[in-house]
This record gives sequence, structure tokens and C-alpha cells, in this order.
Amino acid sequence: MTTTHIVLGLETSCDETAAAVVRLDADGSVEVLSSAIGTQYAQHAPYGGVVPEIAARSHVETIDAITAEAMKTAGVTYGDLTGVAATAGPGLVGGVMVGLSFGKAIALARNLPLVAVNHLEGHAVSARLAADIPYPFLLLLVSGGHCQLLAVEGVGACRRLGSTIDDAAGEAFDKIAKTLGLPYPGGPALEKLAEGGDPTAFTLPRALLGREGCDFSFSGLKTAAARQAEGVTTDKGRQDLAAAVQNAIARQLSERTDRAMAAYAAEHEGAPLRFVVAGGVAANKTVRSTLQTAATKRGFSFDAPPLAYCTDNAAMIALAGAERLALGISDPLDAPARPRWPLDAAAAAANPTHAFGRKGAKA
Ligand code: KG4
Ligand code: ZN
Repeated sequence: MTTTHIVLGLETSCDETAAAVVRLDADGSVEVLSSAIGTQYAQHAPYGGVVPEIAARSHVETIDAITAEAMKTAGVTYGDLTGVAATAGPGLVGGVMVGLSFGKAIALARNLPLVAVNHLEGHAVSARLAADIPYPFLLLLVSGGHCQLLAVEGVGACRRLGSTIDDAAGEAFDKIAKTLGLPYPGGPALEKLAEGGDPTAFTLPRALLGREGCDFSFSGLKTAAARQAEGVTTDKGRQDLAAAVQNAIARQLSERTDRAMAAYAAEHEGAPLRFVVAGGVAANKTVRSTLQTAATKRGFSFDAPPLAYCTDNAAMIALAGAERLALGISDPLDAPARPRWPLDAAAAAANPTHAFGRKGAKA
């Protein structure tokens, strides 16, 4: 790495319209110059979840202003940029196309290199926005759409160790929150409700406990929690059930991660052992502390991004782009928007555990 990169990042793959400017220096140090986010919660809340058409239209309406805000806060001009990085998938393709097309237009107009970033690679580098975490590391990527364990060996070099066979953990939080009558997005609301609840008041299934491998499963928990919710009539009961659900999710995440840690440690003998948890669910305090305990027991360092970089943001996309540009990697202006785009394509094709559809594994 010989030069400084100042990259504009754009993120529009779900219900957040985000733009950010990140500087990556030749010595590897990172500075987030700005990170602007426009959330669409209010527009989707009446429907209890994200409506793809509403999301795409909202991205079109706000991306101009949000990008202008990010550039202004960063105090840079388009002439100062060394590249543009836009999420190119996986995600809701209507939204992905908005940010990617916007990024392509800037790249073309300003003669800048474009990086078409995998959203998951953005989450994978998100902890590096605020801490010096060298490659390689073990990553638990846990969000609304994804739940996987990855050995991250370097820029764009991820190997999948495990993945959910049904729902993602964030999806489980959101769906169970809905059955408890909580508003969208359910994860943060469920965490709040669980405060002061007694997690031992309910018994919930322990999926995959003791089972080989590092895969996850949350659909049984979702069904069991929905059934238990039907019999809950008091506020205290709702608090207790929320606490039990949160504990069950945290416990499964840490049990499966513990297995991945054992496998990863065996493969990286003598090297520093680092563990990172990223994605929206990493914002959950119980999940964080349970994983931190597991990491400490196994001799791994523990890192999680600051809360602002756990959920979707463009700073992580800008950094993923900058790391690629520093290695001389960029993409052509006809780079496609990809609704499905596994980080570890080989593993996903061989063992498509998550949402395998006509078009192949989502992640
Ligand atoms: O990373 P993210 O913003 O979007 C995806 O790429 O999916 O993750 C959003 C997910 C949602 O399911 C949301 O409910 C969950 O992360 N989430 C939480 C918390 N904050 C966000 N889940 C549990 N506790 C939280 N505090
Ligand atoms: Zn995400």
C-alpha cells in the first residue's frame, strides 16, 4: 500500500440510505470522515417489515441529499476522492440498483475507479473502522438477513465455517418481537422489553445443541416462542418471554461459535486468535457479552464494531472499497447488481444451507 485512499461509500441494499467518506492511509490507519444515514423505519413500520418497492423509491428520493451531507461533513470535494464504492448485493435488488447506479454515475463523471462491494464484506470489515484488527480473524456475521461464521483470511478471502439452515438470528428477533406485539424493527424493541425480565421463566428449545459442525437454526425457537406468547397475558410475562428468547438466541450463537473457534484455532496454530462479531444483532448487549465470555475462554481476542457500525451503514462499504483499491482491485462500470451473492461462493454452491432458491444461495 503506497497511497492514501479517500473513498465515497454508498449503501442502499435494504431500508437504510447511507453515504460515507472514509480515508485509508498508507500505513493502514482508518479514519471515518463522515457517515450519513437516512433510515426508512417510519415508511415501513405500518407494514410490519420492509416493503421492497417503498425502499427502492425512498432510496431514489434521498440518496442525493444524503451523499451531499456526507461530502459536506467530511469536508472534501469530488476532486479529493480516489474512488467510489457502492453495495452491489446481496440485498433487495431495486434498492441495490439505486446506489450502484448512483455510484457508477459519479465514477464516470469524475473519472474515478468504482468498487462494486459485497454488503457482507462491508460487515466483515466494519470492526476495522474503529480498531486495528489485522487479518486473519474469525467472524460471526449476524444480521437481519445473514447468520454465518467465516474465517476471514484477507481482503475478499472468506471461508464459510457455518451458516443458518433456516432463519437468520435478526430475522428470529424480528419475527418473535412481532408475536409479542412489538413494533418493527423488532430486535432493539425486544432487547428493551427483556430488561428486567426473568429468562428462566420460560423453557425454549435448544436447537442443534451438541450437533456436529457450526450451522445455526432458529425456526424451532420462533415457533415455540410464538406458541408461548399466545398464553402470556401480563406485562411481566412478556418481559420474561423476551428475556428467555434473547438468552436462547445468545446461547445458540455462542455455542456454535465456540465450535468454530475450536476449528479455527486448530487451523491457525501459533497465530494470534482474533474473534469479531458484526452485523445488526451485534448491537445486542446480551449477545455481545455472551460471545465475549466464549472468546475469552478459548483464548481469542474479542471485537465488535461501535453500535453505529453494527447496523447497515456506508462507512463499512467505503472501507471495503478502499481496501480493494489499495490492492489495485476495482470493477468495470457494467458491474451487475446481485440480489444473491455469497461471500464464499464455493461453500455456498457445495452446501447451500440458507435460502436456496432458483437463483442459487442467497449467502
Ligand atoms: O445489519 P443490519 O442493519 O441489516 C442487515 O444486513 O440485515 O441488521 C438488522 C437486524 C434486524 O433484524 C434487527 O432487528 C437486528 O439487526 N438488531 C438487533 C438489535 N439491533 C438491531 N437485534 C437484537 N438486538 C438489538 N439491539
Ligand atoms: Zn447488513
